[in-house]
Amino acid sequence: MFRTKTCGELRRANVGETVTLCGWVDSARDHSGVFFVNIRDRYGKTQTVFNVSEDAELFELVKTIHNEDVVQITGEVLTRPDGLVNPDMATGEIEIKATKLVVYNRSKPVPFLPSAPEIPSEEMRLKYRYLDLRRPEMQRVLTLRHRITKTLRDYFDENDFLEVETPVLGKSTPEGARDYLVPSRITQGAFYALPQSPQLYKQLLMIAGYDRYVQVARCFRDEDLRADRQPEFTQLDVKMSFVDMEDIIDMISKLVARLMKDVKGKEISLPIPRITYDEAMERFGHDAPDLRFGMELKDVTEIAKTVDFKVFRSVAETKGGRVRGINVKNAADKFSRKDIDNLTTWTAEQFGARGIVWFKVDAEGKLTGSSAKNFSAEALEAIGAKLEAEANDLLLFSCGDFNLTCRVLNGLRRRLAAQLKLYDPDEMNFCWVVKFPMFDWDEEENRWVAMHHPFTMPLVEDLPKLDGDADAIRSIRAQAYDLVLNGFEAGGGTIRIHDGDVQNKVFGLLGMTREQAKEQFGFLVDALQFGAPPHGGLALGLDRVVMLFAGIDNIRDCIAFPKTTKASDLMTGAPAEVAPKQLAELAIKTTVDEKKD
Ligand code: AMO
Repeated sequence: MFRTKTCGELRRANVGETVTLCGWVDSARDHSGVFFVNIRDRYGKTQTVFNVSEDAELFELVKTIHNEDVVQITGEVLTRPDGLVNPDMATGEIEIKATKLVVYNRSKPVPFLPSAPEIPSEEMRLKYRYLDLRRPEMQRVLTLRHRITKTLRDYFDENDFLEVETPVLGKSTPEGARDYLVPSRITQGAFYALPQSPQLYKQLLMIAGYDRYVQVARCFRDEDLRADRQPEFTQLDVKMSFVDMEDIIDMISKLVARLMKDVKGKEISLPIPRITYDEAMERFGHDAPDLRFGMELKDVTEIAKTVDFKVFRSVAETKGGRVRGINVKNAADKFSRKDIDNLTTWTAEQFGARGIVWFKVDAEGKLTGSSAKNFSAEALEAIGAKLEAEANDLLLFSCGDFNLTCRVLNGLRRRLAAQLKLYDPDEMNFCWVVKFPMFDWDEEENRWVAMHHPFTMPLVEDLPKLDGDADAIRSIRAQAYDLVLNGFEAGGGTIRIHDGDVQNKVFGLLGMTREQAKEQFGFLVDALQFGAPPHGGLALGLDRVVMLFAGIDNIRDCIAFPKTTKASDLMTGAPAEVAPKQLAELAIKTTVDEKKD
C-alpha cells in the first residue's frame, strides 16, 4: 500500500494514528527549523510538519522539495496547537508530525500553481490541462459530471433500458451540421463519417425490438463553436417503442426530478411547465426561453402603423414587418446615452439590427427620448400602456421581420438580465418547448425543408394538413420537444414516423422521391419497411447539463480535454498535419499548399 489515508479525510478522531499519505506538494514553507508541507490529492489537503530538532537528515531532504513534486509522507496525526486550527481546511484541526518522506518525482517549475487563487489564462489552462485538472474547481465539476452520469445510468437501468453502443465509423447522412470525415485506406476515395448523433442506429434498434435503449454517446459536429457547443460532445441518448410524446416527456421529466434530488438535493414539482414554440418566439424571441425573469417582448406593430415616425411606420406597413419592444424595469437612470449607443452597436454587430429605438419613462410616466418628438402624445401613451411603462423604466424597440426582432430582443433581454442581475444564479428553471413547426419554406431553394428531420412525425391532428395548401403546410406542427434549462436547450427529441403512407407524403412535400430518400438514408428507409414500431426518443446534451448543474457558463470547463472555439486541442496540437506516407496510403493529396501559394 502506497498510502493508508487520503489527503482529505483526517479529522480530530484520527489523532494518535500513524498514517501514510501520497500526493502533490501544494506548498512548502521553511519557518527556521520547522518545515511545513501541505500535501494534496483529489480528496483535499493535509498539513505535515518536519522538525529539524527531531530528525536532521529528514529535514535536509524535505528542504529540497518544491511545489508539485510527488511525495509520500508518513507520520503521526496530532491536534493542531490552539489558535492554529484552520477553519478553511476540512483537515484543519490536525497536522501530521512527519517521520518519513519519499520523493517519487520532482516536478519542473510549473507554469501556474493549481492552488493559486488567480485563474490562469484559458490558453495556459488548455495547454497544460493536466495541471489545470488539479485545480479544485475542475475536480468539483468532473466529480459532479460523474455523479450526473451515474444517476442517469441508474435511472434508466431501473426503468428497463438497455445501454447499447453504436458505431463511431458510420456513413455520412444529411443531418444538419457538417460531418467529420474519416478516409478509408482499404476502399480508397471512400469516407466514413463520425456520428452527429446515434439517431439512425437508435431507430434501427427499435425496429430490432430493443424497445428501451439508452447510450452515453459521443457525437461529432463540424459547426461554428460557441460557449455552449463543442465539436465533440456527449449525448445521453434515449429511444423508446410503443410510446407517444407524453410518455417520453413523462420519462424525462421524472429523470430531471431525480437528477435535481440526487445531485442538487432539491425537490421539484412535476409536471414541468410547457410552452409552445409559437408562444416562446412571441413572448421571448427564442425557442429556448429563459423563464427566470420577465422582460417579455411586447408587440406594438398596430400602433406603429398610425405614427409619423418613418422607421416604425414603414416596417409596420410592410408584409411580415413587426415592431416589438421590451421594458427594462426601473433602469432608465442606469443607462446613459452612451450605454444605449453601445447596446445599439452590439445588436448591429451580433444580430444585424439596423438600430434600436428607445424611450425613458419620466417621473410623470411620460415617454421621453430623442425619438419621442416624432410621436403624438396618444401614440406614446398607447405604447407606454402596451409595455406597462412606469416611472424610470427603459423601453427598447426593434423593428424588422419577425426573426430579426426575435434575435435582437432575445439578445438584449438576456444581456440586460445578466447585467442587472434579474435572476437568482442558483435557480434551476426547466420548461418543455413543444409544437415546433414541421416545415420551413426555403426562399433560396424555393421549396419546403424539414425543420427537424424528414422522419419526424407531425402532430396527429395536423396529419390531414399534409394534403392542404401552403398555409396549411406551414401550420403543421411536429411531434418535437425540447427540454430547456435556464434558457439553454438541454435536450431535444422527436417521435418518428413509422407509417409508410405518412412518410411518403412527407418525402413528397420535401420534393424527394422515395428513391432519392433511399439514396440519402438508404438502410433506414429500407428498415422502416420491415416492421417499424411506433417510436420516439430524446437526447440530452450531457456537457450542457453538467455546465448548468455546475452553475458555470462555459462548456469547456466541464469536459476534461476540450477543444478551443477553433476546434483545436492546445495540449496535443490536434488537428495536425500527418506524414506524407499516411496520406499516400489513403490516396489523399491536400490542396493546402497550393492555396497558400
Ligand atoms: P439534437 O441535435 O437536438 O437532437 O441534440 C440533442 C442535444 O445535444 C446537445 N448538443 C450539443 N452539445 C454540445 N455541443 C454541441 N455541438 C451540441 N449539439 C447538440 C444539445 C441538444 O439539445 N438525434 C436527435 C435527438 C432525437 O431526436 O432523439 C439529436 O441529436 O443539448
